[in-house]
Amino acid sequence: AAEKVELKERIRRLLKERDAVLVAHYYVDADLQDLAEETGGCVSDSLEMARFGRDHPAKTLVVAGVRFMGESAKILSPEKTILMPDLDATCSLDLGCPADEFAAFCDQHPDRTVVVYANTSAAVKARADWMVTSSIGLDIVKHLHDQGKKILWAPDRHLGAYIQKQTGADMLLWQGSCLVHDEFKGVELDLLKAEHPEAKVLVHPESPAAVVAQADVVGSTTQLINAAVNLPATTFIVATDNGILHKMRMAAPGKHFIEAPTAGNSATCKSCAHCPWMAMNGLKNLAEVLESGANEVLVDPAIGHQAKRAIDRMLDFAA
Ligand code: 13P
Ligand code: SF4
Repeated sequence: AAEKVELKERIRRLLKERDAVLVAHYYVDADLQDLAEETGGCVSDSLEMARFGRDHPAKTLVVAGVRFMGESAKILSPEKTILMPDLDATCSLDLGCPADEFAAFCDQHPDRTVVVYANTSAAVKARADWMVTSSIGLDIVKHLHDQGKKILWAPDRHLGAYIQKQTGADMLLWQGSCLVHDEFKGVELDLLKAEHPEAKVLVHPESPAAVVAQADVVGSTTQLINAAVNLPATTFIVATDNGILHKMRMAAPGKHFIEAPTAGNSATCKSCAHCPWMAMNGLKNLAEVLESGANEVLVDPAIGHQAKRAIDRMLDFAA
């Protein structure tokens, strides 16, 4: 505990000395989320992380999350220094959508508007017309569908199928998935609901259709936290990374949160309900990168420039 206090103090001091701000995702360690808030940074979903990093005047952004979040920050603010506690923190969606294969797929379907999820590499975003996050993907695809556009969607097949179903858009889906959300199970969720008939079910749309179908609210991490606060229920079953429970419990004290069931048992399944890459962010490596300036996120400027168009479209649409 003493070591923790000392590390936090060191991080606070280094953030000031470096003119740096901490931008964290809800799935990272609770200490990092708290520090981000206390020190004037932010803890939020992917859309707000991007916007906050772009708009904040600090010279250095420290992104506690996964690689694509650091890359998006760099793409939006090439003049800033972007650091990450661990540059190997990736995402199964990003890994499952290599840029060359994706480009070939796009080349086969030149008639389609290319919409990619934020959880992709800079090179994949550079090939896209639009980038979206889970909080706004549905609205953007609806907008494109209303304009008569046919869509090529990548990489998350569950989020793609959910948006397809909601909008009726013509969507060709890349078959990627999130290794955390893919583990949530519909049958087990149904049984858990029967045990807690009063509970409302909050689901992230990277989950399989059988889970999404049982949701009271489907949304991004921020949208799910808002639902936990605003819905007049006291018990919630939550189908997303369990890192989110820290914020839910703080934002809605007195309410009761239950993790949705996964295929494995969480004691034996490393990725069940908690992202192994988000877990690579800790107080220790955060303090180290702030001290040394190591782990800078770099994006090829030409690729970054091209990728920025797809991200800016989303941010303009959201504004
Ligand atoms: P959001 O926070 O944008 O909902 O994204 C979830 C996610 O997959 C981050 O890894
Ligand atoms: Fe990727 Fe899933 Fe981890 Fe989010 S939780 S970073 S989507 S693997």
